[in-house]
Amino acid sequence: MELTQPEVLRLYFCNEPRMQPNFTMNFELTEEHLMIRDSARSFAQNELLPGVIERDNEQKFPTDGVKKMAELGFLGMMTSPKYLGGGMDTVSYVLAMEEISKYDASSAVIMSVNNSLVCWGIEKYGTEDQKIKYLTRLASGEVIGAFCLSEPEAGSDATSQKTTALDMGDHYLLNGTKNWITNGSSASIYLVIAQTDVSKGHRGINCLIVEKEMPGFQIGKKEDKLGIRGSDTHSLMFTDVKVPKENRVGDEGFGFKFAMKTLSGGRIGIAAQALGIASGALEISAKYATERKSFNKIIGDHQAIAFKLADMATKVEAARFLVLKAAWLKDQGMPYVTESAMAKLYASEVAMEVSVEAVQIHGGYGFVKDYHVERLMRDAKITQIYEGTSEIQRMVISRAILDEAKEK
Ligand code: CAA
Repeated sequence: MELTQPEVLRLYFCNEPRMQPNFTMNFELTEEHLMIRDSARSFAQNELLPGVIERDNEQKFPTDGVKKMAELGFLGMMTSPKYLGGGMDTVSYVLAMEEISKYDASSAVIMSVNNSLVCWGIEKYGTEDQKIKYLTRLASGEVIGAFCLSEPEAGSDATSQKTTALDMGDHYLLNGTKNWITNGSSASIYLVIAQTDVSKGHRGINCLIVEKEMPGFQIGKKEDKLGIRGSDTHSLMFTDVKVPKENRVGDEGFGFKFAMKTLSGGRIGIAAQALGIASGALEISAKYATERKSFNKIIGDHQAIAFKLADMATKVEAARFLVLKAAWLKDQGMPYVTESAMAKLYASEVAMEVSVEAVQIHGGYGFVKDYHVERLMRDAKITQIYEGTSEIQRMVISRAILDEAKEK
């Protein structure tokens, strides 16, 4: 029997279970996911929110908060329990990242770099010895790690690495400078990307595990930043640092691809951070709109404010779907490079737009520190820059679209 198009559609969307096609689109989180989200929220409210304004003012590292994050398992969420991690999925990780970012985006980036750039990279591409020696300490939060790719002259153009790792037989001799390194002075273990054979271009780049105590390694200037001021961002200098060969992650010349693959996952974490900043700004604004009165009514009863909240909430929800989809794809072992770039691009733009509107809704109060939204607005900006600027994300996305079109 041939069906008409409306009949086919009716079959697809019919509520009769026997009529449903073999297809699930399930927007529900599991009990476990909800538990992780709720515990991240109460941890952030109780342990990170107190003192967040002071830490932001003074550029003070959240030492106690990070120690507690380690105790609760937030620093190695996705690492296998075999290496002292939580063995959770990426969806759990982004749910926790969103909640923590709502209250303290500085603590969130410390967590994100350790989880998705450092722990994930070593677990995926490191040797068993590296996992035992370094990953166990990083995933348990005994120490934290840093990911060192950017240089004074190599930010977006990441193949132009000037830091060199000369092959000296049993070790590499590392020389150069890295810039804007998150966890720069608080880390103990550093993944350093460096050029070994310039004639091979990006295929001559390696990733080395460097320990803070290695002679010739020096921590440089601490950056005085617009936002995420609680996290420490430094330049790092390497002068004739001898790094044993066994500290190379992956095969010879795999360093650039290591960085790209690791960053594709890292971008999901930063997208979740941006989402948290946006949803935090929205929550604070919605509450304020029910309390603050002007012209004899709460400001939420003015359409000018109510419509702002509607637009903010719609953008936050759309960003949340992109973030969760990218995380879910990664968990399913499906390709996620484009989706992670889309999630980061969109969520970071939303973080900026929503936090600016949050300041506007608060008026004069939004411009001072006590209401948190000015900090969220400053914190939002970096999500459009680190782990690949919005322009780099557009490059990644557009290349994928064009490649697919060429194949067709
Ligand atoms: N996964 C795997 N391989 C990838 C890849 C990915 N996502 N992206 C690129 N590659 C591979 C390519 O296939 C290519 O390999 P082959 O030559 O063997 O085919 C190789 O890498 C070089 O790629 P491209 O030719 O595309 O290189 P490019 O120079 O045109 O630029 C880029 C690529 C996407 C722009 C890249 O340079 C990039 O992502 N730049 C941004 C860097 C960045 O995100 N920096 C953030 C710093 S880290 C940070 O912020 C951490 C922190 O502290 C918070």
